[in-house]
Amino acid sequence: MRKTFATLGAAGVAACVLGFAAGSGVAQQAVPTGMVPLHTSLNAVMVYLVDPVAHEIWEYSDKQGMTEMDWLRAEQHAVNLIAASTLISIKGTGAGDGIWVADPLWRAWVVNMQSSAHLALLAAQKKDQQALAKAGEVILDACESCHQKFKPALPTEGIKHLPRVPL
Ligand code: HEC
Repeated sequence: MRKTFATLGAAGVAACVLGFAAGSGVAQQAVPTGMVPLHTSLNAVMVYLVDPVAHEIWEYSDKQGMTEMDWLRAEQHAVNLIAASTLISIKGTGAGDGIWVADPLWRAWVVNMQSSAHLALLAAQKKDQQALAKAGEVILDACESCHQKFKPALPTEGIKHLPRVPL
């Protein structure tokens, strides 16, 4: 299909999404009017998204001789962490997800993670490595504080910290 979303129009996009779902074996469902449900667990989002992008930010915080491309990547990871924060504010398919996201303390740490990721974005845009490192520390504090309170000793779905894979 060579049509772009811009030329399709809203009805065309909806038909296209449903058509794709029908052809791909993904369960068909009505197009939601609000937020699209998270069809994966918070355990998976942590391991596949939150953890790798945070590690990239920490690496760029003390990398010697940052290049133009490194700064762009730092910016990219900061944006990913901002977006990931919104994802972990809604429940996914994990058994504990619904209880966690309803807890005000959980939501407070999510907000902290997002605002510190935003600080990392500003630092990357200004190419200020000291500010990036400072943002990285605040990010780490959000991770650790929330883990202390909510993370079970073993991941609920057995999805653990991955060996580092390039994004
Ligand atoms: C708002 C709470 C919260 C925040 C913030 C948070 N986590 Fe998590 N994280 C959890 C919970 C709860 C689990 C366990 C999920 C499960 O097992 O279903 C988890 C699981 C994980 C896991 C996989 C489990 C393991 O033991 O290996 C990793 C890796 C992880 N988080 C990394 C991070 C990093 C890095 C950050 C910060 C950038 C972060 N998390 C921020 C709540 C949080």
